[in-house]
Amino acid sequence: MFMNFWWPLAASARVGQKPLRVTALQQEFVLYRTTNGAAQVLSDLCVHRGGALSDGWMTGDCVVCPYHGWEFATDGACVRIPANAQGVPVPKKARVDSYPTVEKNGWVFGFLGDVASAERPPLADIPALDGANARRGSITWNAPYEHVIAQIGDLQNSAFLLSDEFVDLPAALSDERATNTEWGAGVTANVNLPKRITRRLGGLVSREETAPEIRNASVLLCAPCVTVHTLGQTRAVMAHVPVNATTTITEWLIEQPIPKADGAANGLEKMRRQIETTPVPDSAIGAALKRINQAAAKHGWSIDSELISAEYTNVKAVVIPSPARREVPELAAAWVLKKVPTRLPDF
Ligand code: FES
Repeated sequence: MFMNFWWPLAASARVGQKPLRVTALQQEFVLYRTTNGAAQVLSDLCVHRGGALSDGWMTGDCVVCPYHGWEFATDGACVRIPANAQGVPVPKKARVDSYPTVEKNGWVFGFLGDVASAERPPLADIPALDGANARRGSITWNAPYEHVIAQIGDLQNSAFLLSDEFVDLPAALSDERATNTEWGAGVTANVNLPKRITRRLGGLVSREETAPEIRNASVLLCAPCVTVHTLGQTRAVMAHVPVNATTTITEWLIEQPIPKADGAANGLEKMRRQIETTPVPDSAIGAALKRINQAAAKHGWSIDSELISAEYTNVKAVVIPSPARREVPELAAAWVLKKVPTRLPDF
């Protein structure tokens, strides 16, 4: 798991004026909207005694911790401590990390890290799937996010997921082409779905149909964890966010010419065994993610989740640092909660 990326933390429709807790990268975050509708991401860990801000409520543009009522503004600074006598200033140390937040095409992204804007990998380039035919959902996997992306990013698996009937045999691919950029990758091919057998009259009459070739089906990977799928007129955007090193939540948006409410959900559920238990396929998208993660590790952005599990959990809280830690020198001594440990690559 890597900091210093724009992580898609929730579909926009889930974020409102009631604080929403999101777990990602072994950390808790609180997402909400201010009175003008802007989305915001803060660390969920109250700096006072570790309460969850997401259990609280909003007052104006501030999120209120439910335990002792401290109020935090969008920049993470506490602006009111109810127990303080009138005129007593709020100390500088009363602050939580506030992450740059951008909303794009139906997703709320938080920049979870502290590097300057010029050094940040770009926001995922995702299409807007907001038509009347768009459907959304989520699924939790007992598998690392790299594994989920390698499986779902495989073009044959993608064709299985997006095809109308969720055929049981793998599609045949031809004219396969792969592209790579610094923080992304793509694979394109023509797809021939297996023959489809339809049965009527209790199975007495069956008919074999061959679907026409689907040209230029594709899967794109946008670091750190978004896949964009196209199969004919069907398109999908999926965000595969690591809850921790072994659990992943895939939030998906799919747009089909004739929407099927449970189609994508059923297709993903049918892939559970394959995604959770079979070895990672030799896919172009899986290889690209490995390359990107190696580059991120060389930058020192790899969170040491093993060390956190072994030595920090229930002992010492650590958080992903926000840009203000580097950008505002006068706050250098103001951060009570220490940064997550990182590790250099072991290759
Ligand atoms: S724990 Fe949040 S105000 Fe006390």
